[in-house]
Amino acid sequence: MPGVRILWLAGFMVLAVACKDSSVTGQDPETMEEYTALRSVASFPVGVALQSNRLNLAPHSEITRTVFNSVTAEYEMKMRHLTDPSGNYIWTRADQLTAFAKEYEMQVHGHTLVWHQSTPLWLENFNGTDVEFEGVVQTYITDVIHRYKDDIISWDVINEAFEDGSGALRNSIFRRRMGSDYMARLFQYARSADPNALLFYNDYGTIWDVKKRDSMLAMIDDFQARGIPIDGVGLQMHITYNTPPLSDIIAVMDAIVQRGLKIHISEMDVRVNPQGDLSQLTNARSELQKKRVNEIVAAFMDLPEGSRFAITWWGLRDPESWLIDFWGNPEWPLLFDSGYRPKPAYEGFLEALITN
Ligand code: XIL
Repeated sequence: MPGVRILWLAGFMVLAVACKDSSVTGQDPETMEEYTALRSVASFPVGVALQSNRLNLAPHSEITRTVFNSVTAEYEMKMRHLTDPSGNYIWTRADQLTAFAKEYEMQVHGHTLVWHQSTPLWLENFNGTDVEFEGVVQTYITDVIHRYKDDIISWDVINEAFEDGSGALRNSIFRRRMGSDYMARLFQYARSADPNALLFYNDYGTIWDVKKRDSMLAMIDDFQARGIPIDGVGLQMHITYNTPPLSDIIAVMDAIVQRGLKIHISEMDVRVNPQGDLSQLTNARSELQKKRVNEIVAAFMDLPEGSRFAITWWGLRDPESWLIDFWGNPEWPLLFDSGYRPKPAYEGFLEALITN
């Protein structure tokens, strides 16, 4: 098998990176597991969500930088985290993330300039006129993009703008203050700040929520008809081991490809316990998760090369997943287990990369 091999020495919390032929002596082969780093064999960036408090955490940090070559801040580049209660910038943590990525030659995807769930109170309660509000938002977008111009190649300009079920535009503060065409202007502000940054619309449910999907595609068509810049779509891949059908995932990807945009399988996690029937992960469910990961990566690899932006996992190892708090069930949705061992899902990813 080609690529960089990682040697996992069970029980020692040690990670070594080895070339295929290098031998490690003095270790009991029974306790060793060897696996190939995704970044060393993938033809597209393979990403993971990152938090600054884990940058120096062993072996978290080593695995992150050895296995992946792209990162997204799990929360530290959202508006509520980049500003203090008075609206002043706090760059420290985002700076740490970009510095880490640079040191280990990882690409950074910016997440997210505007999100209704991360609007700080200073902006929600802004006292000025609507025109002044829009000026503040434009300044924010410009400042953030400028600061990371050399470090961040792509941005989610807007996250989750459409309602579940109806596909209507959420009545966020941005819509209320800037009007129903606000998204177009946000994309234009982002493009003016850095003509080279790739600009994404990112959302969940655009695979199984037909109205939401149609609203998103209509927005893209409208943008393209009017010359509003947009380069790609982030499909938040928060799915389960058996839903939605692969054919629905492929249909949405095809619709995006037809529009000439790039696809980011963003925020990937594959729930194995959506009904809450498991108190521990079974081999059978783990194998189904592996199959699911494998088929999605294979479908992504079937896309034209220019349409494949990246696949990003929403966390490294199971106990760190946001889904555990979100759903309140035991869950094992990621590629690594609590002991930092790669799961069958990891093999599923790798096999798709190698055989497709
Ligand atoms: C979540 C993070 O995982 C959490 O750590 C944070 O507290 C809240 O946000 N859709 C998104 C992500 O676009 O930004 C969310 O991330 C998960 C849902």
